[in-house]
Amino acid sequence: MTLLVIIPASLLLLFLAYNLFERFRYKLPPGPKPWPVVGNIYDIGPVRCQCFHEWAQKYGPILSFRLGTKLNVIVSNAELAKQVLKENDQTLADRHRSRSSARFSKDGKDLIWADYGPHYVKVRKACTLELFTQKRLEALRPIREDEVTAMIESLFNDCTKPGKEFNILSSGFKSSKTSFLAEHLPWLRWLLVPLDKEKGEAAVHNTRLDRFTREIMEEHAKAKSQNIGGVKQHFVDALLGLKDEYDLSEDTVIGLLWDMVIAGMDTVSISVEWALAELIKNPRVQKKAQEELDRVIGQDRIMTEEDFSNLPYLQALAKESLRLHPPTPLMLPHKAKAHVKIGGYDVPKARLST
Ligand code: HEM
Repeated sequence: MTLLVIIPASLLLLFLAYNLFERFRYKLPPGPKPWPVVGNIYDIGPVRCQCFHEWAQKYGPILSFRLGTKLNVIVSNAELAKQVLKENDQTLADRHRSRSSARFSKDGKDLIWADYGPHYVKVRKACTLELFTQKRLEALRPIREDEVTAMIESLFNDCTKPGKEFNILSSGFKSSKTSFLAEHLPWLRWLLVPLDKEKGEAAVHNTRLDRFTREIMEEHAKAKSQNIGGVKQHFVDALLGLKDEYDLSEDTVIGLLWDMVIAGMDTVSISVEWALAELIKNPRVQKKAQEELDRVIGQDRIMTEEDFSNLPYLQALAKESLRLHPPTPLMLPHKAKAHVKIGGYDVPKARLST
């Protein structure tokens, strides 16, 4: 019984002493007062970007809070973003990997979750010079146009069926409160993980993903080895082509494949869904966009990417929608490799979001 009191009391004292030590040692950015052990986990609102915005109104453009015992720093103005992303770029370009992103990226062997270092530089160079070029975008255009046509046909078929409801957003993998707590309170994981029914779902999800990846890679390797003519260049072929040239491991090629799918899928579908929602709310804008399409494209053919430059109103509409509803209002968290000063405050080895 005495042990049951002594152990938690000592842990609490240790925590308070550590906090006091950090407070005197560093000049940390202001922020909501953390609770012992859980930090500010219970203060964060359900929509994180709104919560951080409210905190920024109260504490200023640089603030700190704790998830469990982990310190997080948020900056929210242009001057501080410059200090983070330009002046201290290399020190702050590591990634914090959650348990699932670490598992998924084989501990940062991809691009998105890679820490800054020789691997990141190599992969980033391969992507910039080989995958995100105008030439490659042009080469992959037939595939994009086939996919868009198939999507429009499927939407059209769904719309013409009475009573059919459709949702553009694919169903992602949702994270539960239990997973969130297990992530930030590692010492409680042994108790929380058995309660987490999503752990089983995650395992099924990962197995399906691995199987799917293997099938895609085998299909493309086979087509390449049999030199099947007339097959359109696919992004996977481009990736496989870089494997030897840039000395990329199998894990990296697979990681890059899923990086592009994940980074390019939700961001774009969320943007399209918001733009459509805004158009429905603004019939005047919808009418003007339709008029431009009728004038430039007409009724007899499908729009192609070549038409974009002749559709300034549609371009402005897309940009305004991105401004109103950015699909990533917070950046992916950056992690400090070493101690830095931002906005006159200390950022010890911690996480940092902009
Ligand atoms: C509206 C569309 C998009 C938005 C708003 C968006 C936003 C972002 C943001 C905020 C980051 C984090 C940057 C950082 O932490 O420094 C990021 C990284 C990344 N995005 Fe996107 N993205 C979009 C579309 C795409 C697409 C279509 C692809 C690829 C097909 C893509 C691939 C990536 C990759 C590979 C990274 C990691 C870059 C690195 O760490 O060096 N994104 N994106």
